[in-house]
Amino acid sequence: MTETKKTAQLTLDGNTYDVPVLSPTAGPDVLDIRKLYGQANVFTYDPGYTSTASCDSTITFIDGDKGELLHRGYPIDQLAEKSHYLEVCYLLLYGELPTATQLEDFEARVTMHTMLHEQMTYFYRGFRRDAHPMAVMVGVVGAMSAFYHDSTDISDPWQREVASIRLIAKMPTIAAWAYKYHIGQPFVYPRNDLDYASNFLRMCFSVPADEYEVNPILSRAMDRIFTLHADHEQNASTSTVRLASSSGANPFACIAAGIACLWGPAHGGANQACLEMLKEIGSVDRIPEYIARAKDKNDPFRLMGFGHRVYKNFDPRAKVMKQSADEVLDLLGVENNPILQVAKELEKQALEDPYFSEKKLFPNVDFYSGIILEAMGFPTSMFTPIFALSRTVGWISQWKEQLADPQMKIGRPRQLYLGESMRDYVDIENR
Ligand code: SDX
Repeated sequence: MTETKKTAQLTLDGNTYDVPVLSPTAGPDVLDIRKLYGQANVFTYDPGYTSTASCDSTITFIDGDKGELLHRGYPIDQLAEKSHYLEVCYLLLYGELPTATQLEDFEARVTMHTMLHEQMTYFYRGFRRDAHPMAVMVGVVGAMSAFYHDSTDISDPWQREVASIRLIAKMPTIAAWAYKYHIGQPFVYPRNDLDYASNFLRMCFSVPADEYEVNPILSRAMDRIFTLHADHEQNASTSTVRLASSSGANPFACIAAGIACLWGPAHGGANQACLEMLKEIGSVDRIPEYIARAKDKNDPFRLMGFGHRVYKNFDPRAKVMKQSADEVLDLLGVENNPILQVAKELEKQALEDPYFSEKKLFPNVDFYSGIILEAMGFPTSMFTPIFALSRTVGWISQWKEQLADPQMKIGRPRQLYLGESMRDYVDIENR
């Protein structure tokens, strides 16, 4: 924990309380209110945690005003261009970029854990074929605690490490099998001679009757999408994983909770909702109608893929994703993709509109990702599972960091109670 240099004063009912001020490496100072309730008998109130730091962390930093995202200090645009997903996984998990030997060892360990316990194939069969793949992923990942008992003891550093590698390694298989089950095709097993992204693409698109040749351009684009979604400070799903883990729950249960939270359209579900919105708009001449709806306080419609709690500038991931969309669609020969044209024109018109510029609403990571994923052959129902696959390393890294914190205790927020004062029970005949 950083040392305290400054102190703030809180004056309440004639009493003054010293509130220590913690100074971060980057970002705003933090008021340490841990002793405030004991000293002043008051709670702080911050629904949605717009102004609250829930923990300290060394993993990821976002400068929302500048539109910067750092993983262990390295800017996301440099990692997206020069690194690859498993190297970023190593960086997030262990804090430093790996040497060639360390990377080779890490990739080998991940490769050796991509298979699922064969009994889990029967677990999939309990779902309806039309179940949303996210429902399947929540169930299957949670069920891993019923299959991998030898990596559920969170007090054992070795078991924590094994669970981390198992989850990162198996998520592509779990997501691909959720897709295969959904479309009624047989499961395709991972191959050790393929890289992480190529393995996932092949498990999704290969069929017994027709081997799938991985296009290296697509696997590079897939790998980049994994990197862009890897971690993002204390977002809703990461906070869910931290809160679940604070009770001592096993890693598979905690990650399943994170997947469940990510599913929401305000969070990871926005990539699916965004493409569905772009398709509903359909053509550039209908954009003004939808922008008007997004601005209308009486209309619950929001521009999906737009806005962010932290970014008040362009989401740097959206910038990379937009470039990637152009590259992938060109390479796929998808000239003048109408949906991409709608997205670009929608972005242009929204950013020229004072409503969005004044509220600092910019495209976020979900605005362009769906366009690429659909062009690669994925249905919209697979967009959030791919986000969950990518974010697993972020959830795991934050989970490990919290467990290693000697100050960790169970998360238990308080409340501003506005209900009834104590009153006596009324017998039914007197009501
Ligand atoms: C992700 O936290 C993370 O880091 C998440 C994420 C990650 O990597 O983990 O980055 C991934 O979840 C990205 C966000 C994906 N969600 C969407 O694209 C859904 C659409 N966006 C919004 O629902 C919204 O912008 C949120 C949920 C993302 C952020 O909402 P906030 O921070 O709670 O902001 P808000 O709802 O208070 O909005 C502030 C104002 C409001 O207007 P006023 O009440 O002040 O007049 O901006 C308006 C909102 O109505 N607004 C929008 C809008 N987003 C906010 N108006 C129209 N369209 C939008 N998209």
